[in-house]
Amino acid sequence: MKKFIIALSALFAAAAMSGTALAAGGHGAVLDEVNINMNDKASLQNGAKLFVNYCLSCHSAQYSRYNRVAEDLDIPLSLLKENLMFTTEKTGDLMKTTMPEDDARRWFGVAPPDLTLVARVRKPNWLYTYMRAFYQDEGSPSGWNNSLFENVAMPHVMYELQGVQRLVGKVEPAQSHAGDAHAAESDGANLIKVVGDAKFELEHPGKLSPQEFDVAMTDLTAFLTYLAEPAQMQRKRIGVFTLAFLIVLMGLSYLLKKEYWRDVH
Ligand code: HEC
Repeated sequence: MKKFIIALSALFAAAAMSGTALAAGGHGAVLDEVNINMNDKASLQNGAKLFVNYCLSCHSAQYSRYNRVAEDLDIPLSLLKENLMFTTEKTGDLMKTTMPEDDARRWFGVAPPDLTLVARVRKPNWLYTYMRAFYQDEGSPSGWNNSLFENVAMPHVMYELQGVQRLVGKVEPAQSHAGDAHAAESDGANLIKVVGDAKFELEHPGKLSPQEFDVAMTDLTAFLTYLAEPAQMQRKRIGVFTLAFLIVLMGLSYLLKKEYWRDVH
């Protein structure tokens, strides 16, 4: 029994370690860590609101339906209709964009991809860093650029919220990971902020403070993560129950085994 428990815990430790190794790998870009909580309904609801207001005009999430989102995130249908549905009338509809793909290609040179599964492809830390890394660049066609996704065709659609930032340099990867990468320090009149390995100066403040914008982007990242796997909250809840049940069953089986062997000895 003892050996079995040791073997079992070794197995769990190995699995946990390979998990972190995989998570740490990636494209070599310096990413900020996002702290999402998939059980925080208020955060997910705010993410949904940001998504329909700022993203759905160009991107679709055509593998999810409005009413499923409302049900999963505890949004009453009346609120859903009033505040979240701009592209359709029916609550059972798919979350499609109204922008025709041909027009999008003409305007941006590339059609905005569907975002239903983007959190699986790009991972939450990437999305969180990307969303905060837009800066003003007069040399680009849209007037915007992104330090994580160079020459991106997407404009900075949330500049009203974040404000307008200018790239002032890069920081050493070690430096950006040391301490708080999100810390905004005041450098003279303008605010300096590090996102990933890029250093920005806030030229015009937005409606939100840098800290509030980070929270908003955490909510949006949480929503995109939910969208990529709507059943994940349920899956995790069931997983915990299943493991608890198996542990209880293991205890009972052990007692039963002892009972049987008492007669044999
Ligand atoms: C004005 C149109 C427009 C809006 C609004 C918009 N995007 Fe984009 N987005 C684009 C375009 C165009 C691309 C393709 C960029 C490229 O490939 O250069 C893109 C690319 C992306 C990508 C990268 C996808 C990938 O894996 O390559 C992500 C993530 C993304 N957008 C998220 C968002 C989110 C989240 C919002 C809402 C806050 C949003 N976008 C709003 C036009 C838009």
